[in-house]
Amino acid sequence: MSLANAPDPAVREAVVEQDLKSVMHPIVQHKVLETTQIVVTKAQGSTIFDADGTSYLDAMAGLWCVNIGYGRTELADVAAEQMRELSYFPHTQMNVPAAALADKINGLMGGNYHTYFVNSGSEANEAGFKIARQYMKHEHPGDYRFKTVGRYFAYHGTTLATLDAGGMGERKTKFEPFSGDFVHVAPPYCYRCPFGLSYPSCGLACVKNLEHTILGEGPDTIAEVIVEPIMSAVGVSVPPDEYLPEVERICRKYGALLHVDEVINGFGRTGKMFAHQHYGVSPDIIAIAKGISSAYLPIAATMVKNDVFKSFYGEASENRQVGQVNTYGGHPVAAAVALRNIEILEAEKLTERSAEMGAYLLDGLRTLMSHPMVGDVRGKGLLCGIELVKDRTSKEPADAEQITAVVDFCRNNGVLVGRSGGGRRFSNTITLSPPLVITRAECDCIVETLDRALGTLKPS
Ligand SMILES: Cc1ncc(COP(=O)(O)O)c(C=O)c1O
Repeated sequence: MSLANAPDPAVREAVVEQDLKSVMHPIVQHKVLETTQIVVTKAQGSTIFDADGTSYLDAMAGLWCVNIGYGRTELADVAAEQMRELSYFPHTQMNVPAAALADKINGLMGGNYHTYFVNSGSEANEAGFKIARQYMKHEHPGDYRFKTVGRYFAYHGTTLATLDAGGMGERKTKFEPFSGDFVHVAPPYCYRCPFGLSYPSCGLACVKNLEHTILGEGPDTIAEVIVEPIMSAVGVSVPPDEYLPEVERICRKYGALLHVDEVINGFGRTGKMFAHQHYGVSPDIIAIAKGISSAYLPIAATMVKNDVFKSFYGEASENRQVGQVNTYGGHPVAAAVALRNIEILEAEKLTERSAEMGAYLLDGLRTLMSHPMVGDVRGKGLLCGIELVKDRTSKEPADAEQITAVVDFCRNNGVLVGRSGGGRRFSNTITLSPPLVITRAECDCIVETLDRALGTLKPS
């Protein structure tokens, strides 16, 4: 395959015309797309190509998902082969690739899980909520345990329930009111500790807040607590090491299930296969997506610890089975592709590479502290955030226009970076989540481009 496609202005023009006439895009304003757009036609490694031949270093791996990098034609062969063999059958019965994939990821988790397949991270979390509720109905029939405890500034997906479980106020306002089945606690966002404290003298006030909330709501109303180990959307907030074990302890104390969202964090992103493995916890429910197939095909899953799975096991007459179905879950072609993706991840030691390159990238990003508007640089593995502020003492977030200027400068200079999604107030962190195959030279390019971008900012 040629790396750069032959530029074709006519094709590009036709795509833009068709698209603007007929496509409704997610989350971007169409008026912006009228003047600035990338028509992505090819991609290889960490680089994507516009139809006009322009190349961009994709420092976000798409939407935090193309972990093994672009252009793996081997996966196209796997998909074609599987499609010829068996294109589809509902997962109420068994198929070869889905069984092999479940066995593989169960092994990666330590061998104590069953896997329910879905198609997106949102569905994986949504199924997690429902499995937690159904489990509580089976195991605590006298209680009314239905609530999920989430954290402010978290993101768990785009459906009504996952949006409600998350804590991004501005993403929610246009869809309110929500059900009230999801309650929220303070996040472990140490740079902006909601209690104005500092670690470690804070004594993990955020965990005390969790316990306080569970007690306030009534422990026998709580089905589960959902956490993304390293909070991506708020700008890559890495919690203190004791945070997750303490959350697990509180869950056990009050009989709530621990639901971990590994949708971004998983499959090598943070320098371990799964981020919760940094912290030695044993979740009851785990949502996985994105890196499971590196987005070569849509597939995701909800993993359920065997102790919980037992509750769904019985005679047909007992009506204990998982109370839902989805058409495409366990799709053989997506499962075959995901399995080979994980084999590549392992064979090329991309998780180890994520730890090594992540440390290298983070070292480079720390040099950006020379810019007065860089308030904080943080990350784990190849998941990093650079938080921009007007002033380091007040920590007042940089203006949205300044963040946009940095993102646009990078893009105009061939590097695609992301930004946090905290709404008008907390969208002030530049995020990085490149393919795990990124090279040192590409890491240098990201740092050097950000350095130049930040150099254009004038503190307001
Ligand atoms: C942590 C987290 N959970 C869940 C989701 C939802 O995944 P999807 O967009 O595949 O529905 C996302 C999406 O970015 C995410 O970042």
